Amino acid sequence: MTDSVATLTIDKTGQTLKLPIIEGSYGPDVIDVQNLYRDTGMFTYDPGFMSTASCDSTITYIDGEKGELFYRGYPIDQLAQKSTYLEVCYLLLYSELPSKQELADFEKNIIEHYMMVHESVRRFFSGFHHDAHPMSMTLAIIGALSSFYHDSTDIQRPDHREKSALRLIAKMPTIAAYSYRSSTGFPLMYPRADLNYTENFLHMMFATPIKEYMVNKVAAKALDLIFILHADHEQNASTSTVRVSGSSGTNPFASIAAGIASLWGPAHGGANEAVINMLEDIGDSKNIEKFVSKAKDKSDPFRLMGFGHRVYKNFDPRAVIIRKACHEVLEELDSKDLPLFKTALELERIALEDDYFVSRSLYPNVDFYSGLILKALNIPLNMFTVIFAMSRTAGWIAQWNEMLDDPKLKISRPRQLYTGDKPRDYVPMDKR
Ligand code: CMC
Repeated sequence: MTDSVATLTIDKTGQTLKLPIIEGSYGPDVIDVQNLYRDTGMFTYDPGFMSTASCDSTITYIDGEKGELFYRGYPIDQLAQKSTYLEVCYLLLYSELPSKQELADFEKNIIEHYMMVHESVRRFFSGFHHDAHPMSMTLAIIGALSSFYHDSTDIQRPDHREKSALRLIAKMPTIAAYSYRSSTGFPLMYPRADLNYTENFLHMMFATPIKEYMVNKVAAKALDLIFILHADHEQNASTSTVRVSGSSGTNPFASIAAGIASLWGPAHGGANEAVINMLEDIGDSKNIEKFVSKAKDKSDPFRLMGFGHRVYKNFDPRAVIIRKACHEVLEELDSKDLPLFKTALELERIALEDDYFVSRSLYPNVDFYSGLILKALNIPLNMFTVIFAMSRTAGWIAQWNEMLDDPKLKISRPRQLYTGDKPRDYVPMDKR
């Protein structure tokens, strides 16, 4: 808190109010409106939270105008270049980069201790319909984990919270891969201690018991980058959902399941899958103009998937990094001349020059390129959002943990502007 205040004059009532200004460590200050209703009888109105900070956080910082993204103060491009996903998980959970020994212990704990799931969890998968979407299975199984860990879901105990965080980060790749494998009828593979986190995910996705699976290093490196870039993103829809659900004191598995549900939508984590569906609908590059016109037509609900972002209005720093990786992957895997990728690269070129997109700062976002990379790595389309959920679990659980440590925590309870009928009397059936 600073001594500065914002003065608010309400014409309707003639009231003048001094609202405290709270300073952040970096970036915009906030005006504290917590007592506004008490002092004026009015709420603030901010659908979609365009100007509302819902919490304090020390985890991730975004500046949408400057295109900045930091995890615990470290710029995303440095982490993308020098770090690994598990090191980033450690950073998000424990606030600092690990020493060599701390990282080695953390990796060993995640992979050797927590990555396997209970055999009963494996059996859950046989209960799903054969063509269930893997996102629906992942969502259900993560929620169901709460039925396994009664020993460690006391959210008041930091050691229980830590155990849950490690379990969630470690079991996500296993559950994600099983949700794919169970729909294909292939055996569910156990993780291996000699593989790292990302390699284990690929192994559980693609290996079979009949011969040794060799992890493709290009695939593992590109996937690890995707995991890092998606690990956290401040108070987005799914993270806010985790916080809102967790604010009631529910267990971490239930909160993370709520986050997965929110992420599923095409305006959020479902966008990478929607990008490929859109490119397949466009088909040949010669149809791009028609789709671009549809996207510009206000009477048509169609939008170019993978373009635009609520916060980044100049460029998405993650997109800059992943765009480069995407071009490298397409080159290395000799895929750039395949029709879908040709259409994607042509769409990217046209939209970047079109005044409609330029004037609204609608640039290809991280999902445009992650969708292309995942497609080039032969990851099935319906696994794209699951991979996003897997990466974001570290951020969700770090944010959930931070929230529970906050002495100011209150159950989330937004208010509303009521626009319905004024009070009226019940009309008996024979008088309607
Ligand atoms: N295609 C065509 N027009 C668009 C698009 C698009 N993808 N995105 C925004 N616009 C237009 C929109 O019609 C509006 O035009 P006007 O000012 O003339 O009314 C203007 O741009 C501003 O749009 P908005 O809806 O106010 O922007 P928003 O901040 O509420 O929405 C968004 C952000 C990401 C939901 C939106 O850009 C979108 O639907 N994009 C496509 C889906 C997508 O790629 N989502 C992934 C987001 S990144 C992943 C993540 O971090 O979760």
